[in-house]
Amino acid sequence: MAQFWKPGTEKPRLVEDEDGGVIFLSSSYSSSSSGYGYVSIEKQRQRLPVYKYRTAILYLVESHATTIVVGETGSGKTTQIPQFLKEAGWADSGRVIACTQPRRLAVQAVASRVAEEMGVKLGEEVGYTIRFEDISNPDLTRIKFLTDGVLLREMMDDPLLTKYSVIMVDEAHERSISTDIVLGLLKKIQKRRPELRLIISSATIEAKSMSNFFLSSKRRQALEGEELRPRLEPAILSVEGRGFNVQIHYVEDPVRDYVQAAVSTVLLINDKEPPGDILVFLTGQDDIDAAIKLLTEEARSNGKNSSGLIILPLYSGLTRAEQDLIFSPTPKGKRKVVISTNIAETSLTLEGIVYVVDSGFSKQRFYNPISDIENLVVAPISKASARQRAGRAGRLRPGMCYRLYTEEYFLNEMSVQGIPEIQRSNLVSCVIQLKALGIDNILGFDWPASPSPESMIRALEVLFSLGVLDDDAKLTSPVGFQVAEIPLEPMIAKMILSSNELGCSDEIITIAAVLSIQSIWFSARGAQKELDEAKLRFAAAEGDHVTFLNIYKGFLQSGRSSKWCHKNFINYHAMKKVMEIREQLKRIALRLGIVLKSCETDMQLVRKAVTAGFFANACRLEAYSHGGMYKTIRGSQEVYIHPSSVLFRVNPKCVIYHSLVSTDRQYMRNVISIDPSWLTEVAPHFYQQQRHNPTIH
Ligand code: CDP
Ligand code: MG
Repeated sequence: MAQFWKPGTEKPRLVEDEDGGVIFLSSSYSSSSSGYGYVSIEKQRQRLPVYKYRTAILYLVESHATTIVVGETGSGKTTQIPQFLKEAGWADSGRVIACTQPRRLAVQAVASRVAEEMGVKLGEEVGYTIRFEDISNPDLTRIKFLTDGVLLREMMDDPLLTKYSVIMVDEAHERSISTDIVLGLLKKIQKRRPELRLIISSATIEAKSMSNFFLSSKRRQALEGEELRPRLEPAILSVEGRGFNVQIHYVEDPVRDYVQAAVSTVLLINDKEPPGDILVFLTGQDDIDAAIKLLTEEARSNGKNSSGLIILPLYSGLTRAEQDLIFSPTPKGKRKVVISTNIAETSLTLEGIVYVVDSGFSKQRFYNPISDIENLVVAPISKASARQRAGRAGRLRPGMCYRLYTEEYFLNEMSVQGIPEIQRSNLVSCVIQLKALGIDNILGFDWPASPSPESMIRALEVLFSLGVLDDDAKLTSPVGFQVAEIPLEPMIAKMILSSNELGCSDEIITIAAVLSIQSIWFSARGAQKELDEAKLRFAAAEGDHVTFLNIYKGFLQSGRSSKWCHKNFINYHAMKKVMEIREQLKRIALRLGIVLKSCETDMQLVRKAVTAGFFANACRLEAYSHGGMYKTIRGSQEVYIHPSSVLFRVNPKCVIYHSLVSTDRQYMRNVISIDPSWLTEVAPHFYQQQRHNPTIH
């Protein structure tokens, strides 16, 4: 181990360094380090660092419009503060306490934890809402967890969010696009509802800049004149971080394959280090599944030492049972290895982790307004993230973090902070949501971090071409309002509306449901051949969207059988989810006056409806090199059909994709072939005013 790893020089006892990263204090969470498995829930609650701040938090919330709470991950912010508020009466007389999270899985996990702590049934006093899943009760729910995206949706029906007495915007340091929009809007709402209390909470935050954001110059003046209650200046409370020391190890030389390196490191830890669970940070379902397979194989061939490993994945889209496994205590004599996306970085805390393996990467969204391309890229994390990840090892006792990058890289090349998502995203969804909330001057909106004007202009242009905005950049009636009403990306919403005119809404709603989940295929590392064969059974010449229809039909004909799914390499849970989403979309469609109608076998109509929504993602085949090179018609960007698509190597002349993923190249996922003449038909403005590429052939 010593030849491979060198201990780092990062000072472990630092409280706060110049970059503002708060880490690694040396005292403990509890006087005993026996873990939490044997203590009562009430005891567990009292041991959390925020418990000591209960009175302070309640006092600040009472006396300040906005309270900023900074505290290390696992200190109890998310699970405890809403309970404190409830106990103090903030949920009396029918009022509700809201707590937002950027991630759906975190919403589910913390809501069920809090329900358990309070001894109530989830969905009653404690509930949650994520898109397409509402486990709350308007009459009973007093503490409600929800994604910040759902809170935005709620503003459409209730612009002042009147039912909430306190809104806690959690994980604010993540700076997700919806968090930023929510913060901007809440600041506005506060002016109209002085009794509303906000709590902004985060693991590491530049609390000062967040505080300044909530204190505009006008308010500063207002403060000078009179004594205002509740005080408008935000209060900042720092909950003492109380993890144990974490020893950092770096690789001597850069690693070529972080999946392989992560697996070898887990096995090394297992061979050489005392008991304690291991948390591995990779980037997404694909590399996590690959690592699990590799680790399982290598552990098996490694002999008896590795037989005690319990290897578990952690990424969004896990079933409830799978989530429970992650949180359940590790049996004696066993060692849990959780292989996770960056969801375990701050959103969720796993007890028992002593070792962290950090790949140094995460999946991040990047958008280029020049090429109008947005994709998910595996990109290096920031120093702030690296510190958070390391900190996960120090909850139970002193821990170790193995960074799969060199110390030199950490010190000299890693960026200090990540870039807020709003500055690296396509803004189409964001703009339409603000428009629907009556915010017309979007550039002048009070952003915690301003998006680039280029991205904004691109978004306006696409929305204009979709017929959602008019010449004055106002929502059109009825299309604009209808698109805004559908809780899906505007392009999908437009596709649904067009399907109504074309007479294929039944099919398009199924497609929309499938596109809103990650994948309906069972991930089949090592069984690629079988998976490909299964795909062939359903493959449609038109492309993936029509293939989904074949699968859906097959699933219905099988009587929604899990056996059938298994036989065909289809993820049964995903199909059940598709059915649920489809039902909800059907309801929304009916509300909008869309009558479900099937086009039977006329797939041309389906392809046209897809084009009406996704014309901006049209690509033309340029060359047969590398299995078929395409260029986006608009921006002349090189893209390729993803090997998972049924059109891979089929290479139709003109296609439309649903999304891009970028690895060594830009790959199109979910592709359908179209007739290029449809483009000018459905989006004349978009395709006729071309500067670079005026002709479509
Ligand atoms: O929000 P913060 O990171 O400050 O902490 P938290 O999420 O409130 O977690 C407080 C404690 O609750 C930790 O010890 C977690 O391990 C525990 N917890 C849990 O056991 N199961 C969950 N689903 C969520 C939290
Ligand atoms: Mg939390």
